[in-house]
Amino acid sequence: MKPFQQPRLLVTALTFILCLSTVTAAPHPKVSLSWTLTPTNSTQQFRGLSPVSKKVIWVSGTNGTVLRTTNGGSKWTNVSPTFPSENSTAFQFRDIHAWSEKVAVVLSIGNGNASRIYRTHDGGESWARTFVNEEQAAFYDCMAFEQEKGREGHGVAMSDPVDGRFRLLETWDGGLHWRILSTNGTMPPALAGEAGFAASGTCIEAAAGRWYIATGGVNPGRIFRSAGIERGWSVANSSIAGGAAAGVFSVRFRDSKHGIAVGGDFEKPTANVDIASWSRDGGVSWNKAESFPGGYRSGLSWVPGRRDVAVSVGTSGSDITLDRGRNWARIDNGTFDAVECISKDQCWASGSKGRVARLELHKL
Ligand SMILES: *[C@@H]1O[C@H](CO)[C@@H](O)[C@H](O)[C@H]1NC(C)=O
Ligand SMILES: *[C@@H]1O[C@H](CO)[C@@H](O)[C@H](O)[C@H]1NC(C)=O
Ligand SMILES: *[C@@H]1O[C@H](CO)[C@@H](O)[C@H](O)[C@H]1NC(C)=O
Ligand SMILES: *[C@@H]1O[C@H](CO)[C@@H](O)[C@H](O)[C@H]1NC(C)=O
Ligand SMILES: *[C@@H]1O[C@H](CO)[C@@H](O)[C@H](O)[C@H]1NC(C)=O
Ligand SMILES: *[C@@H]1O[C@H](CO)[C@@H](O)[C@H](O)[C@H]1NC(C)=O
Ligand SMILES: *[C@@H]1O[C@H](CO)[C@@H](O)[C@H](O)[C@H]1NC(C)=O
Repeated sequence: MKPFQQPRLLVTALTFILCLSTVTAAPHPKVSLSWTLTPTNSTQQFRGLSPVSKKVIWVSGTNGTVLRTTNGGSKWTNVSPTFPSENSTAFQFRDIHAWSEKVAVVLSIGNGNASRIYRTHDGGESWARTFVNEEQAAFYDCMAFEQEKGREGHGVAMSDPVDGRFRLLETWDGGLHWRILSTNGTMPPALAGEAGFAASGTCIEAAAGRWYIATGGVNPGRIFRSAGIERGWSVANSSIAGGAAAGVFSVRFRDSKHGIAVGGDFEKPTANVDIASWSRDGGVSWNKAESFPGGYRSGLSWVPGRRDVAVSVGTSGSDITLDRGRNWARIDNGTFDAVECISKDQCWASGSKGRVARLELHKL
């Protein structure tokens, strides 16, 4: 499913004081968190985001664009795939996964052969087309790769339902080769109208050997889970309200038990009821947040090394939770689509109008 949005234009990084004591019972110190925009010199919308380290970050987006920085965002370089025989500006690279400053894969979304995957092994100097969708009914939304040592090459891309079931595409070699998995016997059927959101590359999640898929188009939005692709899938209702343009946009797990999910309605960017869920049983059951993020949220990331902390972003702002998704507090009103935290003190976010920004969490 393809969200269309016209996010607001904000040209400066904003600094806000967040008083966390207003949202949690326990007293918390006042912290100041602010996104610092980096100069991409681009006007594209970057829904694909993959920080590899504090220095190396890749983003991908509209107009067939892929950018990479190797110096922490001081300078961005356009490393987009171009093929003489293809109109690559037609592609929307809604998801990217990078392993280093050299190796990355990007997913182009869309109907029919617009859904495709490219891979580079030389920092974007050259790209190989490693998958082109041939199934008219398929529409690939997002992909995820395992992080565990020895399994980093194992990834799955997810498509909206074909013949009534979400379609999965699997690779074991970091995106060089892909094969369609049969989900007939292993996955519960999709409901009428159910689909994933190609909004931030996080409608599929791999964490601690388990897999999750976030859906909408149905009410409530649902979250599929699997204890291992070959072991089959189950599905649970989230507490996130769904609808034609609404549901679960992002699901992330910290470990095999603790998960968070956000979403909402991308046509109602500031509506903020029933837009966040948390789980402590590996996604078997989902609970409503006690206080919600400030509006529709498309992206979500745990902060590594800070057990209970996560950040969410959307077109109407970003928020932080200090208690595993029970309560969310607004930190910024600027528009972003995707967020990825890479260490206990740094997150990255990307979005429309070429916005790519860094959040420092030292003071938290
Ligand atoms: C920014 O982009 C414009 C238009 O694409 C280009 O002419 C200009 O050289 C770029 N500036 C930098 C600093 O990269
Ligand atoms: C798309 O990118 C190409 C070069 O990669 C550029 O010439 C063109 O202006 C861009 N189009 C839009 C609408 O941004
Ligand atoms: C390439 O694709 C873009 C976006 O779909 C379209 O506007 C443009 O006309 C196409 N160009 C060619 C040469 O087909
Ligand atoms: C992709 O599909 C379009 C029509 O939807 C067709 O014109 C084009 O030839 C196809 N390209 C490839 C490489 O299959
Ligand atoms: C899966 O089931 C659908 C209908 O339920 C059928 O059309 C399709 O051929 C089956 N695919 C496989 C690989 O068995
Ligand atoms: C999930 O939600 C649907 C729609 O409200 C409801 O019919 C169904 O019973 C729920 N499933 C479970 C297991 O609660
Ligand atoms: C964001 O906007 C809301 C509503 O306009 C305002 O109440 C709030 O103070 C702003 N939050 C921040 C962190 O700027």
